Amino acid sequence: MSRTEPIRGEIVVPGDKSISHRAALVGALSKEGIAVEHFSTGADCAGTLSCLSRLGYAVAREGEQVRVRRGDASIEGGVLDAGNSGTTARLLCGFLAGMPGLFAVITGDESLSRRPMSRVVDPLRTLGARIDGRDGGRRLPLSIRGTRLSGGTYTLPVASAQVKSALLLAGLSAQGSVTVVEPRKSRDHTERLLEHLGVPLRREKGSVTVFPFEEPPGGSWRIPGDFSSAAFWIVAAALVEGSEVTLPGVNLNPTRTGLLAVLERMGLRCGIVPSSPSGGEPTGTLTVRPSPLRGTVVDADEVPLLVDELPLLAVAATQAEGVTEVRGAGELRLKESDRIEAVAEGLRTLGADIEELDDGWIIRGGHPLRGGAVASRGDHRVAMALAVAGLVAAGDVEIDDADCVFVSYPGFLDELRKRSGRP
Ligand code: S3P
Repeated sequence: MSRTEPIRGEIVVPGDKSISHRAALVGALSKEGIAVEHFSTGADCAGTLSCLSRLGYAVAREGEQVRVRRGDASIEGGVLDAGNSGTTARLLCGFLAGMPGLFAVITGDESLSRRPMSRVVDPLRTLGARIDGRDGGRRLPLSIRGTRLSGGTYTLPVASAQVKSALLLAGLSAQGSVTVVEPRKSRDHTERLLEHLGVPLRREKGSVTVFPFEEPPGGSWRIPGDFSSAAFWIVAAALVEGSEVTLPGVNLNPTRTGLLAVLERMGLRCGIVPSSPSGGEPTGTLTVRPSPLRGTVVDADEVPLLVDELPLLAVAATQAEGVTEVRGAGELRLKESDRIEAVAEGLRTLGADIEELDDGWIIRGGHPLRGGAVASRGDHRVAMALAVAGLVAAGDVEIDDADCVFVSYPGFLDELRKRSGRP
């Protein structure tokens, strides 16, 4: 018998993390600036704001209301701590590389200092960027000596919205147009935001081109709820008997909602009521009730559309009938932790039948989960996915270093405890 209360009612998830980072950075380039509501409450986006204010941009925050504009200070550089946030570090590289006269150093925490930076440094160097760093610029800390960049075309070896966005931000101050060719479509928030603010872009199948446009106009809007945060409630409601969760104002950008498509294929019934777009992004209300799930296959083409939700999908797959295979997801090994290994280890401890592949997992569903002590490895998405697994485990699940959820969803564990009645 489940010891978990049904998860019921309306849950307003924090503002989207990816969009919040971008709004802050684009706002800083604009004289008029941006004023947004429902800015992400996570530490990652607070980190982007503090880097911008350290550089001398005008940043004002009252709770979830944030204003950022260029201000009057001359931007000369400084030491910028990106904390745990890959998006902060990588987008800042593109943002700063084309500012002549600037000198900046980007640092980060232990996890971020292990993560690859050459994916953003190499393409920026092809535009003339002067970036150096540990291990030849492969790891943080990185130093950036701003310079006038040339235009150019870069073909990404791996789909990455962070790298694409760094190049697009660099392109705004370059001397010619910058085209990014993507092997697979990744989240397009930067493109949507720039278009929404009136910056011309050329979007073609498989590529996007930005033209020199040093000062984007400003704007004011509400950041939609983060689909990646809503995802934890979607899977919780799908798995816990008697649940019914309503999630209003969630971002429904199709480059982010791959998890919904996969869960629907597995049998999830989910109500979707669209609401008005905000800041160029589609939004809507999701309603989720429990559904019996069947195994499925997720391959490389789908991965970028649910890359951050794959740990959570693995949790759902443990409760599905049959086998789920995730392949082409080697990128997960390069996130805040090695998510392939962390998820396999955590779920195996709880009694799941999960086989680790180089680039994904094979999960044989239908095994009841038990309680146990599992490791988050300081990775917010692993911690939250294992907490959702805890809802369907027979005994208590103890997650070490679970506080790491503050980087994207500070209130998640309290809310989950309150609604589920689990310790
Ligand atoms: C992000 C892009 C993704 C994602 C990350 C946020 C972004 O990373 O995993 O959490 O905001 O652009 P990659 O660009 O490395 O795929």
